[in-house]
Amino acid sequence: MVFIGGDSLEHLNITNIVHDLALLHVLGVRLVLIHGGRPQLDSALTDSVMHEQRRVTRAEDMDIINGVYGQLRSQLEGLFSTGLPNTPLHNVEISVVAGNFVTARPIGVLAGVDHLFTGRMRNVDTARVNTLLEAGSIVLMSPMGYSSSGQAFNLAAEELAADISVALNANKLIMLDELKHLTNSSDQRESTATPTSLQILIGANEQISTTTRMRLDTMIQAVRGGVTKAHILSFQEDGGILQELFTADGVGTQVLEEATGPVRAAKAKDVADIVEIIRPLEEAGVLVRRSRDRLEQEIEHFLVAELDGVVVGCCAIYPFEDEAELACVAVHEHYRRRGSGVAIGANLLRAAEAKAGSYGSKRLFALTTQTQDWFIDQGFVPTDVSALPTSKQSLYNWQRGSKVVSKPLS
Ligand SMILES: CC(C)(COP(=O)(O)OP(=O)(O)OC[C@H]1O[C@@H](n2cnc3c(N)ncnc32)[C@H](O)[C@@H]1OP(=O)(O)O)[C@@H](O)C(=O)NCCC(=O)NCCS
Repeated sequence: MVFIGGDSLEHLNITNIVHDLALLHVLGVRLVLIHGGRPQLDSALTDSVMHEQRRVTRAEDMDIINGVYGQLRSQLEGLFSTGLPNTPLHNVEISVVAGNFVTARPIGVLAGVDHLFTGRMRNVDTARVNTLLEAGSIVLMSPMGYSSSGQAFNLAAEELAADISVALNANKLIMLDELKHLTNSSDQRESTATPTSLQILIGANEQISTTTRMRLDTMIQAVRGGVTKAHILSFQEDGGILQELFTADGVGTQVLEEATGPVRAAKAKDVADIVEIIRPLEEAGVLVRRSRDRLEQEIEHFLVAELDGVVVGCCAIYPFEDEAELACVAVHEHYRRRGSGVAIGANLLRAAEAKAGSYGSKRLFALTTQTQDWFIDQGFVPTDVSALPTSKQSLYNWQRGSKVVSKPLS
């Protein structure tokens, strides 16, 4: 799936972009293209009302919007009709098919503003799109959708690109933008990001334009929705798409879901990372304070979770008689799960259960002041202090008043 915004369509390099896409098509890559048209609509509808970067589409705007999208579609169809000039494949015929694949609904009233004929995708006819792709066509979509009564709705092109790439279970989403790639705080290119690290990069970089932000959000949505990789790269760079796809380093920034990182035994070199994760939680009273010395001495009790080679979570397992205590469970605040993403806490717990099992423990227990519900979600049940192993009961801090939870180990 390739998103070609209105800005890309206005740029001279669009001819080269189309040639590269034609080449990919000839090589057997199945292509769905979604074009935008924001700058063209801005010129055609000078009195348009925008609300939070979204156009409010009035009934009288629809003819103009249809005209603008029709022109842009025709521009792309024309460019594909030239095939692959100056190559041995110059006579190749490329079939581009556009159509009414998308059904839409009005997005309605947002923050008190009725968006009228601005819509959101309801459904895309994936069966028909796949049949066309299998038959060797490129599918071209404009950001329009139709209701069952035949009413046309103007859709946000970026949002549609995310929705369709998820619905089609696309392998890749390529967003063409004025941005060449993302950079980190040292102004160096980030060739790869995860949805979470991308969110952090966007938050920390005020230079990124609103349009680019919207496109980066699209990439996050797509990858979180199951698209394997999303790429952002410049529409100004001749050969950019081919370089991004076929060179080891690429030229843009690719976003892919956090691989479920391994959980492994902690080593002495992990102490600094563990301290960084747990200090804020100790200061907030969520975790009991552990000195650096104590961490160093007890490091063999710890497990750490890694993502992209970075330590992002930890926990400790202490055997007590025929049971084991799970303590110091913590995930770095940037990597905690919010609705989606990788369940690092749950992964740590699974590894902790295996480690406790290897000690011959029959039960895993934990003491918690603020996280009882998370443990219960993970299969623990509330228990009484008196149910703790006797050697642990004598260490129980009545002032702290932690709740006790436990889980039998099979
Ligand atoms: C608890 C913790 C380890 C979970 O790690 P995680 O990788 O974010 O979580 P998981 O993916 O396993 O689980 C996420 C779910 O737990 C929920 N959750 C996280 N903290 C919670 C809490 N204190 N109480 C109840 N639910 C909680 C999240 O809302 C999320 O719910 P969802 O799946 O419905 O969206 C992490 O939130 C953390 O480090 N918290 C601070 C330290 C802490 O409280 N440790 C326990 C000390 S005893």
